[in-house]
Amino acid sequence: MTVMDLQQKLENIKKLFNQKIRDVKNLEVLENLRVQFLGRKSELVEFLKGIKNLTEEEKRKFGPVANQLRREMEKLMEDAKKSLKMREVGKLMEKDRIDISAPAKKISQGHLHPLTLIQRKIEDIFQSIGFEVVEGPEIETEYYNFNALNIPADHPAREMQDTFWLQTPNSKLQTPKLLMRTQTSSVQIRYAENHQPPIRIISPGRVFRFEATDQTHDIQFHQIEGLMIDKNISLANLKGVLEILFKKLYGKGVEVRFRPSYFPFVEPGVEVDMKFRGKWMEIAGAGMVHPKVLNTMKIDSRIWQGFAFGMGLERLAIIKYGIDDVRLFSSGDLRFLKQF
Ligand code: PHE
Repeated sequence: MTVMDLQQKLENIKKLFNQKIRDVKNLEVLENLRVQFLGRKSELVEFLKGIKNLTEEEKRKFGPVANQLRREMEKLMEDAKKSLKMREVGKLMEKDRIDISAPAKKISQGHLHPLTLIQRKIEDIFQSIGFEVVEGPEIETEYYNFNALNIPADHPAREMQDTFWLQTPNSKLQTPKLLMRTQTSSVQIRYAENHQPPIRIISPGRVFRFEATDQTHDIQFHQIEGLMIDKNISLANLKGVLEILFKKLYGKGVEVRFRPSYFPFVEPGVEVDMKFRGKWMEIAGAGMVHPKVLNTMKIDSRIWQGFAFGMGLERLAIIKYGIDDVRLFSSGDLRFLKQF
């Protein structure tokens, strides 16, 4: 090889390397480049190995030049490696970046069912005027739901409340007939078994009726029962108590009126209407506790009198919130529930 050829060879290596290193896109390509230009079988390394065969003059000339070229190339490789690494770290950071200024995702929170809301409101109102809140079982015996309330088996009033009867084991044991309670009035009897007057209770809870459902009827709904027994109690006291309730629930403008009605466990019995936004609507059944029922409660009716009332919680909520279908309450439909 002539001196010119040797010179040319080094320049070619340098030129090609400089071209390629500029386009290196990632560390893998860079490593390939290193093998190609600085590896054991690369042109430059072969060149360096061959130096020993050159003349003294050529050695002096090309030895330093070739070594210098190798150092330059190594330096360029090193720089390229650093900047590629930086770029990759940058990419990773970009990918995992947490934008601490981004608005937080809203965690949806549950809340109380509209019936629970209104029930609690009603409980608060009654507790503020000295009533106690008591509960009774949803599965009842015929005795508490009917007989003790002056509704014997053959009484036509049983047909007023179509009943879900439970199948009880067909044994010789005298198991009482069980049913899903049709009214919370059963709690009056239970409470009186271990309390004597004066009595002031309300009893909220679920009741069941075996009937076709429509916009205003469901097979299950909730009632609030009330019972107050004391001396000199009259329908006027009932009216006063209900007025307190309705005014606190619906505003001072509401009015209350009674219409004569019939329930076997009260005498006289009344239907309670409330006037709200100019419209009268039926809202409760009520009356003075029947002497027969007081007798069952072992309360002396010559000394004590009392009133009882029962009203539908759904009805109260429907009026308060302007709901048009009673079945929505037990539908579990979130579009409905989320509005409260
Ligand atoms: N229990 C009656 C009903 O469900 C309502 C009522 C309760 C009437 C108390 C009078 C006294 O229809």
